[in-house]
Amino acid sequence: MTHSDTAGQPIPLEARSSGPLSGKVRVPGDKSISHRSLILGALAVGETRVSGLLEGEDVLNTAKSMRALGARVERAGPFAWEVAGVGVAGFAGPSAPLDFGNSGTGCRLVMGAVAGCPVTAVFDGDASLRSRPMRRVLDPLELMGAKVGAGKEGGRLPLTLQGARDPLPITYRTPVASAQIKSAVLLAGLSAPGITTVIEAEASRDHTELMLKHFGAEIVSEKEGSHGRKISLTGQPELHGADVVVPADPSSAAFPIVAALIVDGSDIVLSDVMTNPLRTGLFTTLREMGASIEQSGVRGDAGEPMAQFRVRGSKLRGVEVPPERAPSMIDEYLVLAVAASFAEGTTIMRGLQELRVKESDRLAATADMLRVNGVRVEISGDDLIVEGKGHVPGGGLVATHMDHRIAMSALVMGLASDKPVKVDDTAFIATSFPDFIPMMRSLGAEFS
Ligand code: S3P
Repeated sequence: MTHSDTAGQPIPLEARSSGPLSGKVRVPGDKSISHRSLILGALAVGETRVSGLLEGEDVLNTAKSMRALGARVERAGPFAWEVAGVGVAGFAGPSAPLDFGNSGTGCRLVMGAVAGCPVTAVFDGDASLRSRPMRRVLDPLELMGAKVGAGKEGGRLPLTLQGARDPLPITYRTPVASAQIKSAVLLAGLSAPGITTVIEAEASRDHTELMLKHFGAEIVSEKEGSHGRKISLTGQPELHGADVVVPADPSSAAFPIVAALIVDGSDIVLSDVMTNPLRTGLFTTLREMGASIEQSGVRGDAGEPMAQFRVRGSKLRGVEVPPERAPSMIDEYLVLAVAASFAEGTTIMRGLQELRVKESDRLAATADMLRVNGVRVEISGDDLIVEGKGHVPGGGLVATHMDHRIAMSALVMGLASDKPVKVDDTAFIATSFPDFIPMMRSLGAEFS
């Protein structure tokens, strides 16, 4: 069921203590790579064939926006999509506002792509997306020559973006580690003459760089400082259509992985999980906590490595997670907090300021989710401190705040807590992991 099928009606659900989880599953395709495959396919000349695309609402909204901008985007079969692109700077002006629903990534990346084309588009989204900051992307895009109309003042959607007829290449230092800001600048830089450079103090996920190379762009990434990168893109390349195989999403895999760790006696296998080192901070952290996660059969496609994971129920202990690890696990702190609640000892997660501007204020929402289920938790500045007692009382009702990852994390918590955990609305799970509930049930999860 998609969120739109329910006409906005909330879909509550309860998770309760379940027997050992077992079985083998492949979670859906990576969300970041799925968005990028459609956008780059639309900016390339010729045919792009994508297999394993995530058919979640966020990505489907990006597909619609690419159609509205002139590309041909068709579903050829389950998870198989074909895109016939218009070429760099070839977008046509859309006749209606582009609606990105819940997706910050879709919205901000397409803003970058539109900023380099001489067209005007209105960007909009749902109440969650309308509350999120867009200035961080608009600032560099304005430096490149794009103009922001209505909605400019607060930097909030809905807003109008007029792309640049003659975009300028810039050198831009991102103010926060954000793959969305970096990607927006690089996508706009595709139509600028000369070199567009992005410098980031902390390396963020590099899927845009890897995929641009795969589609024929000249792009160089060098180390910058101790944790950063300097990325230089040569503008006005002829991008050619390409085949893209989308690996399984490590951010979605995080949910069955943590579920298997906290439910005693579990033993599950996940196939094709992407292991790009800029996405695997959660797995590093869980291993430090004592998790049994075996990785085998590493292989790669178009620069993105993947592996099979075997995960078994484990006794976990509290750890300290350093701030420089945040970009490589930024979407995983909610479910890590669930694992930390079941661990023995204190887990301190440092440097989580970016969590405040996600689909919801995830720092506050994580603390609330734990508190209503009897876990002691504290927010100290930008750090989250969880007191693990080896078990979780449960019995709470968790508010989803239009955030798919809150809903999935709370349901995972309920699989091992003393009393069931309820969530007020599971509808937003359809944005990133439409089959989450049946897939978890197939492993033995009890939801009702
Ligand atoms: C994403 C980047 C991250 C992440 C989001 C996906 C991407 O956001 O939270 O879910 O695909 O580029 P930021 O760039 O804001 O950190």
